[in-house]
Amino acid sequence: MLSVRQIVKVFNKGTINEKVAIDHLSLELDPGDFVTVIGSNGAGKSTLLNSVAGNFPVDSGEIAIDGRDITNLPQHKRAGLISRVFQDPMLGTAASMTIEENMIMAFKRGHNRRLRRAIGSRERALFKEKLALLGLGLESRLTNKVSLLSGGQRQALTLLMAALQEPKLLLLDEHTAALDPKTAEKVLDLTSRFINGANLTTLMITHNLDHALAYGNRTIMMHEGRIILDIKGNERSNMTIARLLEMFEKASGTHINNDRMILA
Ligand SMILES: Nc1ncnc2c1ncn2[C@@H]1O[C@H](COP(=O)(O)OP(=O)(O)O)[C@@H](O)[C@H]1O
Ligand SMILES: [Mg+2]
Repeated sequence: MLSVRQIVKVFNKGTINEKVAIDHLSLELDPGDFVTVIGSNGAGKSTLLNSVAGNFPVDSGEIAIDGRDITNLPQHKRAGLISRVFQDPMLGTAASMTIEENMIMAFKRGHNRRLRRAIGSRERALFKEKLALLGLGLESRLTNKVSLLSGGQRQALTLLMAALQEPKLLLLDEHTAALDPKTAEKVLDLTSRFINGANLTTLMITHNLDHALAYGNRTIMMHEGRIILDIKGNERSNMTIARLLEMFEKASGTHINNDRMILA
């Protein structure tokens, strides 16, 4: 489904700050794969997602979705294929607009601005139906400004909007890290229900190893721009955090004193 072949991304090439963020990384996702991505700070997790989303061109390698080469496709042209949710709840939605205005923008992404603003009864019914799935009571608050919502509610709405156009691929970059633990748990459960319900192929970065093993069907661990562990099936079902950390040490050659280094 997603096919990443030998991609390389170097920042500040030829300068003293040169940094190989992605180092000949390859990754194949099957349709419906829900992959959690872990690794210490600076391992290249966000850069991998940014490369797939087309934030910048990669230096070499190829990226394809369903056999279509998107390596040189500009970001806005990938937007119909790929949806994203970031860490900051303030980024994914427009605070000064209402819930339904935010949703119509997401729903009609790609149409011209004037058309995007028109909300008919059909759209309203659809939005209510989708919002009800969140179980947060937002379906009765269509005309409320988003600024009235909590961070968790906003993140849930962002997620819903990301899935509205049924993207081929959903990219989540620590999308619950800014929420309090209880809300984070709730949004993650929503995320999981959503992804499984729509059979969305997903890459989800998390710094929480519990979450990494509890959600999805596969876990990849990154280190210095490469994937050093790829865990699925029975091996994953039987995996513990202690064992995962042990495997990380072995595969990376890095000694860690406690969980914090990898959780940071
Ligand atoms: N836009 C950028 N310019 C320069 N260096 C960057 C940029 N983005 C990321 N990096 C560097 O690339 C490496 C990987 O970063 P990142 O992908 O954000 O790591 P992670 O998400 O795993 O914490 C880090 O060393 C980071 O400093
Ligand atoms: Mg990151």
